Amino acid sequence: MEQVFELEEKCFKYPYPPQLLAMLRALYPELFLVAKHGNRVVGYVSAVVRSDGYGHIVSICVDPEYRRQGIGKKLMESVEARMRSKFGLCRYRLEVRVSNEPAIRLYKSLGYRIVGVLRSYYPDGEDGYVMVKDVCQQGERSSCAQISSSSSSSEAG
Ligand SMILES: CC(C)(COP(=O)(O)OP(=O)(O)OC[C@H]1O[C@@H](n2cnc3c(N)ncnc32)[C@H](O)[C@@H]1OP(=O)(O)O)[C@@H](O)C(=O)NCCC(=O)NCCS
Repeated sequence: MEQVFELEEKCFKYPYPPQLLAMLRALYPELFLVAKHGNRVVGYVSAVVRSDGYGHIVSICVDPEYRRQGIGKKLMESVEARMRSKFGLCRYRLEVRVSNEPAIRLYKSLGYRIVGVLRSYYPDGEDGYVMVKDVCQQGERSSCAQISSSSSSSEAG
């Protein structure tokens, strides 16, 4: 977890505190995934289950030295697969800074679409986009969670 927090600090202007990262992992260990190169943690993603049946990607980050190698995409695909297999979720949601072109491109390439704008969502006043992806088959319902997440402010997800 120490390495995850170091990575978080490299990735974000307002990193999540270690306690929050530890809580996210404790709540949904199946949805807290790391990418490693040898013993070095070079990426992570964290997601939670919302009570409205959406899987919420709370944070994703790849070490700047390891970007554009497909790690972010792989982390997203893996966490989506787990949200589906472990929790029966087929709808996913995240928030992203409107200026975060790399992340927006990544999410669009995976099938996410912008469905709303959250005014002054981030601590520095920047707006956020809400992006969602729905892969539910006809008649399929995304399950509801036993543990609901708050729609917490999120730097990444
Ligand atoms: C967003 C982030 C996780 C992407 O990780 P990554 O491992 O570099 O992404 P990938 O290599 O898997 O990229 C997959 C696709 O996303 C898009 N993409 C990723 N980075 C991009 C960039 N800098 N510019 C344009 N497109 C980009 C491309 O379509 C890319 O496919 P391609 O390389 O075949 O063109 C990474 O840039 C990061 O950690 N940023 C800082 C933290 C952050 O902003 N997290 C998201 C907050 S919502």
